[in-house]
Amino acid sequence: MSNRYVIILAAGKGTRMKSKLYKVLHPVAGKAMVDHVVTQVEKIKPDFVETVIGTGAEKVRDLLGDRTKYALQEEQLGTAHAVLQTEKDLGDKEGMTLIVNGDTPLFTADTFEKLFTYHEKQNAAVSILTAHAEDPFGYGRIIRDQKGNVSKIVEQKDASDEEKLIQEINTGVYCFDNKMLFENLHSVNNENAQGEYYLPDVVSILKSQGEKIVAYQMDDLSESLGVNDRVALSQAEKLMQKRINEAHMRDGVTIVDPESTYIDADVKIGNDTVVEPNTKIFGKTTIGSDCLVGLGSRLDNATIGNGVNIISSTIDSAVMHDGSDIGPNSHLRPKADIGEEVHIGNFCEVKNATVGARTKIGHLSYVGDATLGTDINVGCGVVFVNYDGVQKWHSNIGDHSFIGSNSNIVAPVEMEDHSFIAAGSTVNKDIPKHAMAIARPRQTNKENYWDRLPLSKSEEWK
Ligand code: UD1
Ligand code: MG
Repeated sequence: MSNRYVIILAAGKGTRMKSKLYKVLHPVAGKAMVDHVVTQVEKIKPDFVETVIGTGAEKVRDLLGDRTKYALQEEQLGTAHAVLQTEKDLGDKEGMTLIVNGDTPLFTADTFEKLFTYHEKQNAAVSILTAHAEDPFGYGRIIRDQKGNVSKIVEQKDASDEEKLIQEINTGVYCFDNKMLFENLHSVNNENAQGEYYLPDVVSILKSQGEKIVAYQMDDLSESLGVNDRVALSQAEKLMQKRINEAHMRDGVTIVDPESTYIDADVKIGNDTVVEPNTKIFGKTTIGSDCLVGLGSRLDNATIGNGVNIISSTIDSAVMHDGSDIGPNSHLRPKADIGEEVHIGNFCEVKNATVGARTKIGHLSYVGDATLGTDINVGCGVVFVNYDGVQKWHSNIGDHSFIGSNSNIVAPVEMEDHSFIAAGSTVNKDIPKHAMAIARPRQTNKENYWDRLPLSKSEEWK
């Protein structure tokens, strides 16, 4: 097998996105477009991968790190000029070179693999990956001669009315004989509607030399979607979501309504987990088996064990261990670590806090900056008062303790095991083992007070 090289073109300005964010960094299913391309390229294990970067170069480099080599294209003079920037690394090498744009996030490794194989079999100078598009607007069109052989590619802006009717498009992916590519790149000129050096022009140059040009037409047009504006970005998102959801379903996840379920590319979900409608699962979230991600939940970089029930809640950079449950309408914020079989009910917020196994936080509570042991009962409306306006303070609550409803724990407080806070207390001192803290005014009953109240005179209260 000949050596395989890959060049990813990612230096363009992305003018049509009208964005401050550099085009290839726009996310599709939570992952930058160029990252999708690199991820698929990595799967075919090429001998060498180089990404051409320009505008926003540093940001692309920060994102991709050492997964690829880089070539800098200082001025964006076109795709042929972009490829030329890799000449010092690749120019004299024997082998095959796959070129792919950084704005086509849907291509799969399987397609790249097939193109390499096809190219090698055909022994061609270049194999162009083409697709049939119902609406070919914006793409380069494949022009074939009378014998049906590819003769050139014409860009949208340079196409005649007749050429514009052609529905076979250039997907922007090619496999070149490496030597022939670099020998001919220098001959490309910029005499066209955009004044750019077009990579597809290498095709007609090779043709004029009598070299073999072949096209490999894809079955699945949706893979080749090029994202040049926000309309295409939303189409790419839709296609990617469909692909991701179907992969999870094939792996044994129930997705009740795939149309309203948004799962990022790197999310992992175990089998027999059920994902209900209107849910979003972002980032590097992992979810175990037999879980419920209920209606309207939002998970972002969450780590969820097995058998966890999440009902209409938001989990952000937090962990839930096996058998725990939350919701409806609760919020785990960063660094919440919820132990096994913990119950968190409705309207609770937990932040930067560890909650030990089997502890219950049933209703309307805020737990921030605290370490809670196991088997604790946190009553309704308990507030961990963690902030003095300047800094956050931490509290520790021992195992088997009981915090009565509507209590405030003014941090820092140490509550030892088996201690108790009476309902309605505002506690700001440590509580020893087996003690009960009551920190609330004593109740006084004023006997026969009724007649002294103005309301006792009103008809309504008689
Ligand atoms: C390109 C092809 C077109 C094809 C389409 C498929 C050319 C001239 N046209 O058009 O035939 O149908 O892709 O999606 O190649 N880039 C650079 N440096 C530059 C210019 C572009 O690195 O100077 C990069 C961009 O970042 C982008 C890629 O090359 O990732 C393609 O550029 P873009 O402007 O999107 O080309 P299209 O108009 O989509
Ligand atoms: Mg494009």
